[in-house]
Amino acid sequence: MARAVFPEVLARLRTFFDVLDNPDDTVWTPAELSVKLRGRHGAFITGSECIDAALLDAHPQLRAVCNMAVGYNNIDIAACTARGVLATNTPDVLTETTADFGFALMMATARRISESEDFLRRGDWKKWCYDMFTGSDVHGATLGILGMGRIGQAIARRGALGFGMKVIYHNRSPLPAEAEGPLGARWVDKERLLREADHLLLVLPYSAISHHAIGSAELALMKPTATLTNIARGGIVDDAALAAALRERRIAAAGLDVFEGEPAVHPDLLTLPNVVLTPHIASASVATRRAMADLAADNLIAALTGGRPPTPVNPVVLPQPLRA
Ligand code: 8YV
Repeated sequence: MARAVFPEVLARLRTFFDVLDNPDDTVWTPAELSVKLRGRHGAFITGSECIDAALLDAHPQLRAVCNMAVGYNNIDIAACTARGVLATNTPDVLTETTADFGFALMMATARRISESEDFLRRGDWKKWCYDMFTGSDVHGATLGILGMGRIGQAIARRGALGFGMKVIYHNRSPLPAEAEGPLGARWVDKERLLREADHLLLVLPYSAISHHAIGSAELALMKPTATLTNIARGGIVDDAALAAALRERRIAAAGLDVFEGEPAVHPDLLTLPNVVLTPHIASASVATRRAMADLAADNLIAALTGGRPPTPVNPVVLPQPLRA
């Protein structure tokens, strides 16, 4: 158990395994993680732990790495598969909670919630004023979504059905017509998405391909009135380029839940008023974090006791069922 987790989940795992836990919830260095993995057959990890080929080679007894996260860019899946190690993640259970948060962060950004709260807490609120903290409307605006997987579609539903937004998106491939239809969602190329969105949300997985998918060239295509919200992964946005665009008001505002090199945050972002910053909490409702922990535990128990793990990332390493 690389990190602390709900006591009930830990207790359930102890009924199956000899568990080495981390009650202090220290984030282990790669060297510490390697020491802790000695003789262990399974690892319960989070996005903070990195599983790479060198670590797998040092621990040939390891059979399963179970991530308490839907994203798995912290795991070298090809290296796992090549060594017959199962990797699992926690999809579906966090979709709606994460979409709620993405929408909330977008609204907070558009309507300048953090900036105006800071103003009030500082004691600067002396009178009403016609243009005090005027922001941009969410209802009826054009919602742009980059990465239209489960969470992207859940955000699109909120925008289209709850707020009368026009939804445009970019993804490797368009959704089937039956998924697009009820939302009035339209696939557009990336340039058009950047040019037309009033509120752009990033919901794509991190990979070498999506690294700095939003940099200064992309920001330059956006409307000066637009907002950008990132609930996906740090590194998808070039944070230095974003800070410069926000400072120069080339876009209106940003909402960020994830950062390059987090928990460090680019110092320029910390000084800007037009960015809402949260510490990677999009999936953090009590119920959802519990569901994620339970699912990671279900995967680990099944993987090490001969069952079928519910959400494998590389099912090719599992024993194949006999054909009838
Ligand atoms: C996690 C996440 O809280 O699921 C993901 O991919 O980013 C978050 O829900 C985080 O990765 C900790 O594992």
